[in-house]
Order: sequence, then structure tokens, then C-alpha cells
Amino acid sequence: MRKIFLITLTFLLILSFSAIAHADEIKIGACIYRFNDAFMLRFRNAMSAESEKLGAKIEIVDGRDDPTTQNEQIDNFITAGVNVLIINPVDRMAAQPMIDKAKAANIPVVFINREPTEEMLASYEKAYYIGAKAEESGTEAGELIAEYFKAHPEADKNHDGKLQFVLLKGQNGHQDMILRSKYSVEAIKNAGIEPVELASAIANWDKLQAMQIMNAFTMALGPENIEAVIANNDEMALGAIEALKNSDYNKGDKDFYIPVVGVDANASALDAMDKGEMLGTVLNDADNQGTAAVRLANALASGKDIKAIGYEITDNKYIWIPYQKVTRGENK
Ligand code: BGC
Ligand code: CA
Repeated sequence: MRKIFLITLTFLLILSFSAIAHADEIKIGACIYRFNDAFMLRFRNAMSAESEKLGAKIEIVDGRDDPTTQNEQIDNFITAGVNVLIINPVDRMAAQPMIDKAKAANIPVVFINREPTEEMLASYEKAYYIGAKAEESGTEAGELIAEYFKAHPEADKNHDGKLQFVLLKGQNGHQDMILRSKYSVEAIKNAGIEPVELASAIANWDKLQAMQIMNAFTMALGPENIEAVIANNDEMALGAIEALKNSDYNKGDKDFYIPVVGVDANASALDAMDKGEMLGTVLNDADNQGTAAVRLANALASGKDIKAIGYEITDNKYIWIPYQKVTRGENK
């Protein structure tokens, strides 16, 4: 009898302890613009891993690239009583109502990957942004092309001293689409080479769309007249490479090669670089961005010192993770 009593007591104690632990557990609601995105998959994995490490509970939902769906998901998280939100907005210019909702519920909000304006972030003291400086990635991608062009005189196929390129852009309105496009061309100029844009189009970060567009470009322009492909991300770079292969380019023969650059350093791009199909990329550090997002969210929700999370916070609003050029030595 006494033994049963003791066992029951122990059991009850364990139960109540786990109930306390449960009540203390930080609940993070994370909204991703679209699950079907190779870079955001890396980001999600990093967030899940860090939440697990910190003992926080994270629920990550798929906005399916639809603003209405995403707004409902934010409402649901707030109703369910999450302690903090991480938001990768479908439309970064529509972040204000999201901030207003979080503010009304007194829930901190950490934006990732798609940057709201300064004014928007300033409207709530518990609103933050974690990302990477878009102009930096544009500059680095442009430098990769310029370095290659200088090291390989044969890359100037029409011998006019200028660099004839095509440009594949990400989704309209995304800071990474606007600034990568601008700064990659700027970097070529700054390297002393005159860039000539033969064609450009929006391929929405998407491999298949990029492949179709690049097929049309090679058909219209002739692959022999294209001296470089600049893609705002790796998926589009890989789509472009598929199209080039359809024209028997970038299959290993140096005489039939067009340098292609992307951004992200996704595993599939590194593979393509190893095979000599792709010139280079720029590391978009999903691991550090995802880790920083969860650490900041967790600190904000639990009232811990956000200066102690291991990432520098700029202007009490931003965490910037640096980009980094990645090549396989072809530039040298
Ligand atoms: C990445 C893209 C990704 C996009 C999603 C960018 O920073 O480079 O690969 O599709 O973010 O918002
Ligand atoms: Ca030329």
C-alpha cells in the first residue's frame, strides 16, 4: 500500500514538473513565404535545429506564396497564443499590418529574408529584421564574372572588350531581386569592363521558369553571342544551365562554355560547380540567419538579454549575416 502510494506520488510529481516545464516553454510561430523554395528549406532546417537546442517549440507554416493565406496564419498564431512570431513575408511591402497585429497583441516579431522598410520596423520597438545585405551579394556575383572575364580573354567572344550578358531576376519587389540586379552590373563596371545587357527577365527565383526563359534567350540571341549569365539565385542559375546544355553548352567542352553565376551556395549549385557547369555563387548563409532568428525570438519571448545571443544587433533592429564568394578555382 505504502509502495503504491509512493509510486503514485512520484508519478504526480513528475506530471506536475512536466506541466511546469510545458508552461515555461517558449512557443514560436514561424511563417514562411513558400515551402517550395530550396533556400528557405535550408533556412527552415536551421530554425528547427536551433529551436530544438534551446528547448523552444517552433511551428513553421507554409504561406504558399499567397498573402491572404499568410495573414490568416498570422492571425491563427496570435489566437493560439504564441510568444513570438518569425515572419518571412510573401509581400515585404505589406508587412505593416503584420507589425500592427503583433504590436496589438504585444508579441515580438522577427522578420527574415524579406526586408520591411525602416519606417515599418520603427513603428514597433519589438520588431526586428534578420538577413543579409542584398547589395553585397550583387557586388560579389558581379566580381566573380569580372574576375573570370579578365582571366580568360577568350570569354570576350566577339572581341569588343565589352561583356554581353543576360540577367535572370527573382520575384518582383524583393530587395534581393532589385539590389542584386543593380549591384552585379555595377561591380562589372567598377572592374573596368563595360557591361552590355542583351536581355533580362523575371524568373521568380524558380528553376523551371529560368530554364524556359533561358531557352528563349539562347534561341533569340544565339548562345555564341552570350558571354555571361547572371542569376539572382542558384535555382535560376541551374535552370539556365539546363537550357545551355540543350544548346550543347556547359557540358565540359571549354570552347562551348558560358560562365553562369548565382547566389545561395545551395548543394545543387556546388555540385554543378564541381562538374564545371557553373562558374560560382555567393554563400547566402541560411544556417546563421536561421539560428540567429530563433535565438533572437527566444530571447525576446523569454525576456532574456538579446545582446547575449552571439550575434551583433545593429541599430537595435537588425542582424546582418555576411555573404561570401564561392568558387572552385576557375577564376584563378
Ligand atoms: C534567396 C533565394 C530565395 C529568396 C526567397 C533569397 O535571399 O537567394 O534563393 O528564393 O530569398 O525569398
Ligand atoms: Ca564582348
